[in-house]
Amino acid sequence: MGSYRGPILTNGAGHPVSDDNNSVTIGETGSILLEDFHLLDKLAHFDRERIPERVVHAKGAGAHGYFEVTHDVSDICKAKFLDRVGKRTRCFTRFSTVGGESGSADTARDPRGFAVKFYTEEGIYDLVGNNTPVFFIRDPLKFPDFIHTQKRNPETHLKDPDMFWDFLSLVPESVHQVMILFSPRGTPDGYRFMNGYGSHTFKWVNDHGKAHWVKIHYKTDQGIKNLTTEQADHLAGSDPDYATRDLSNAIKRGEYPSWTFYVQAMPLEDAERFDWDPFDLTKVWPHKQYPLRQFGRMVLNRNPANYFAEVEQAAFSPAHMVPGIEPSPDRMLQGRLFSYDDTHRHRLGPNYLQIPINRPINPQSNHQRDGLMTVNENGGAMPNYFPNSVEGTPAPQPQRPDVHMYQSKGGAIGRKVFKKWQEQDDYSQPGALFRLMPKNEQDQLIANLAGHMSAAKEHIRRREIEVFRRCDAELGRRLDQAIADKVRGASHVSVNAGNFAVANL
Ligand code: NDP
Ligand code: HEM
Repeated sequence: MGSYRGPILTNGAGHPVSDDNNSVTIGETGSILLEDFHLLDKLAHFDRERIPERVVHAKGAGAHGYFEVTHDVSDICKAKFLDRVGKRTRCFTRFSTVGGESGSADTARDPRGFAVKFYTEEGIYDLVGNNTPVFFIRDPLKFPDFIHTQKRNPETHLKDPDMFWDFLSLVPESVHQVMILFSPRGTPDGYRFMNGYGSHTFKWVNDHGKAHWVKIHYKTDQGIKNLTTEQADHLAGSDPDYATRDLSNAIKRGEYPSWTFYVQAMPLEDAERFDWDPFDLTKVWPHKQYPLRQFGRMVLNRNPANYFAEVEQAAFSPAHMVPGIEPSPDRMLQGRLFSYDDTHRHRLGPNYLQIPINRPINPQSNHQRDGLMTVNENGGAMPNYFPNSVEGTPAPQPQRPDVHMYQSKGGAIGRKVFKKWQEQDDYSQPGALFRLMPKNEQDQLIANLAGHMSAAKEHIRRREIEVFRRCDAELGRRLDQAIADKVRGASHVSVNAGNFAVANL
């Protein structure tokens, strides 16, 4: 060791350690002494290494990069990070699967999370999207139930096709997303070859206070590439970290993945007369009516130096918006505005915004103080209250409003069934999607659905086949036939050992 030139090993308190192999004992054979702080510190820290994994999206991979404005959108959005073509903003992106645990397979049939954190001069902007433009449900009250059906059966701790299809067939608003999930896009070939969508409707406000409803699309510059069901199943066993490895290796090779950003903008007045509720997360806005307008490009060019510090501790939240970007009345978005920061306080502690990966690049100047794991200067000697009469303390900036005021149609508060939702059609858009798929994608969709649904009980299957029949009669007929063939062929196989692949939930 005489020639070793690295740093001196220390314990957590910085004390130099002379021996990291032998605990302090009485004699060679005696018991260990409680005075061995190095041992106690090392064991105790190890005992506390795990933090709760994310309740959803637990398995993921991340990378750093930048966002660059390619086209001027200042006529509809005043956000400073968008204010001039060529402007670059540092960002950090985390991709994920949804239902599996943090050690689960990257290639599972599942939506993919696609969350981008922008470190702007006006604070953090998180775009916490998925690789699909729609979602399974349209009211956040259903979210915990929906997620439970994608997780493990409380009795058997197994993934359960009955839970999965029971819920989905009773909630037909899910069929648009289910169709995408069981199409080839349900198993993307890693994270580089898929699109991202903000999915919700947001509000963009310009410098004159004029607002638009918007949807954000970020399309892969690598092109869409999917795995076949067989490839995805095989990789789930042979290389469960396939997508994580692919992202990291591509960046190491200098093949920096990129995505082009587009916005669909709808004048506020259009929302009132739109055919369906434009804030409904189970629906898209047709491109023909609201064309995509390009505004930027994101490039990922740096791998994390430490997974836990940068990826596991990353705390994204749809509530992290900058002036010029605001929520819409989308009920799902409204639910998410609460849920993320709430779970971060539980998963990472009340000072999660002080953790370097989550910290804004501009100063956090306010009157919040103390709390578990305060690791910044905690406001120093400045007053911890407002208003105060001390010079130079943080004060609000009324000349730059952070909330756009507008007259909503509103109404009395209560738990309301939305009439427009009750009357609306859940089937036309998924039907249109089925009909625009090439023949081979239709075949894969039907085979994937049949493979999965055939493991569910017959009355549940029947209900879901009817949901698909309403989208497209031909789809319903072919699915019915494919399931009948599958069930006949597999009648000697037990449900759990049969064609219900756990990795494919
Ligand atoms: P368009 O024909 O203008 O849009 C079709 C869009 O569908 C494409 O731009 C593409 O969007 C996406 N798409 C194409 N092939 C597939 C496929 N095999 N699987 C999944 N998505 C595909 O018509 P509309 O805007 O009226 O949309 C028709 C249907 O397309 C919708 O009901 C929806 O299911 C689906 N779709 C629509 C999107 C939208 O924002 N309007 C976005 C994605 C899907 P992309 O390049 O984003 O993949
Ligand atoms: C993660 C809640 C809908 C995308 C999470 C987490 C929670 C949550 C609690 C874990 C966060 C963490 O521990 O860091 C909800 C609720 C929803 C909802 C209550 C509906 C009411 C959606 C939708 C999308 C989405 C519609 C996409 C459009 C994501 C992504 C992550 C995530 C990408 C992972 C973020 C990361 O990489 O850390 N969600 N979610 N969620 N959710 Fe949702």
